[in-house]
Amino acid sequence: MKRNILITGGAGFIGSHVVRLFVNKYPDYHIVNLDKLTYAGNLANLKDVEQKPNYTFVRADIADLDEMRRIISTHHIDGIIHLAAESHVDRSIKDPFTFARTNVMGTLALLQAAKEYWESLPEKYDGKLFYHISTDEVYGALELTHPEGVAAPFTTKASSAGDMAYGTEFFVETTKYNPHSPYSASKASSDHFVRAYHDTYGMPTLVTNCSNNYGPYQFPEKLIPLFINNIRHNKPLPVYGKGENVRDWLYVEDHARAIDLIFHKGKVAETYNIGGFNEWKNIDLIRVIISTVDRLLGNPEGYSEKLITYVTDRPGHDMRYAIDSRKLQSELGWEPSLQFEEGIEKTVRWYLDNQAWMDNVTSGDYQRYYDDMYTAR
Ligand code: NAD
Ligand code: TYD
Repeated sequence: MKRNILITGGAGFIGSHVVRLFVNKYPDYHIVNLDKLTYAGNLANLKDVEQKPNYTFVRADIADLDEMRRIISTHHIDGIIHLAAESHVDRSIKDPFTFARTNVMGTLALLQAAKEYWESLPEKYDGKLFYHISTDEVYGALELTHPEGVAAPFTTKASSAGDMAYGTEFFVETTKYNPHSPYSASKASSDHFVRAYHDTYGMPTLVTNCSNNYGPYQFPEKLIPLFINNIRHNKPLPVYGKGENVRDWLYVEDHARAIDLIFHKGKVAETYNIGGFNEWKNIDLIRVIISTVDRLLGNPEGYSEKLITYVTDRPGHDMRYAIDSRKLQSELGWEPSLQFEEGIEKTVRWYLDNQAWMDNVTSGDYQRYYDDMYTAR
């Protein structure tokens, strides 16, 4: 079937994997990648698909309502996968207004433009879908009731060999929203707008909330690529607080596969949590990154441990995120494809093998940006 699909934020980390998957897997679909190309957007992430006949790139700002109207109607868009966002918590602490503008007003402009176009068609909302990509961070923070870890109650292929959980609670689709950072507050607000367009205007919408992603093409301000790059350049590794915060990590291509499945088979107006039951305490994850990078660079075991530098904690730092993704597994049959140990090895290798990509995106500005925020203790 022919379709015209708008993917926003396709030049970013997760978006580039979603664009690549759709362009290659669905030659009959026309994929329009809409991206403003902020510091986080990089067309080098899509070099391998840019010449494909079913791919178009459009540079635009999602907060520009007239542009959204024009692009959606010009390309006869019938499906939207919305990833464009400001995505880094530390930046949101410094500059919350940019987050409200893009994540809230931008999502609203996209919803309104889609509504006007779809309502103008004879078939109206039939065969249309607005799929909004969100985060587990909207649910707030879980408690670290088991700081030493207990055997995880559920596992998937993505779980690490250790299979640990650091608390008894997990985020489910009905967990009450309780965001703490300007980033998560802006994403929560955008999620509410998406659901409001369904409930008020009957727009077919879907929301998914995913845990932390890792893999190739992630901007090196986020923990994993930042630390791989710093180890390579013998630079300090700034660990916020005591390094005890817990995150639940999923390989980015497994998230992209989940998005593909949900876009095609998900039930309208539903929410699905996406995660791999793969909790890691930051400091334990950092030690895995150090030992993997050292091994691949031929350094002696433990060589880069000296780079660990404990710094002041992130303000309002959420203690633990842990996703329960059993609804997605049981209703749509999604399974992660990679175990964490395989994923992290692939990821470290990719960053070490793609130094030119890293040099291209590393202007150094982002590091200076935080110098006054996180100081060594
Ligand atoms: P990213 O920061 O790597 O990419 C964001 C992209 O959006 C960039 O290409 C940027 O240029 C574009 N963009 C920003 N503002 C824009 C605007 N006003 N108009 C048009 N384009 C704009 O982000 P990511 O990590 O790939 O995250 C993508 C989405 O997934 C976000 O909505 C994020 O909230 C969500 N998410 C991310 C994670 C994660 O671990 N990275 C986890 C769950 C959900
Ligand atoms: P990050 O990659 O920014 O993702 P998020 O805050 O959205 O979960 O950070 C992951 C974890 O690593 C988080 O607990 C903060 C911590 N962290 C550090 O300790 N040092 C750093 O330099 C960064 C970027 C993150």
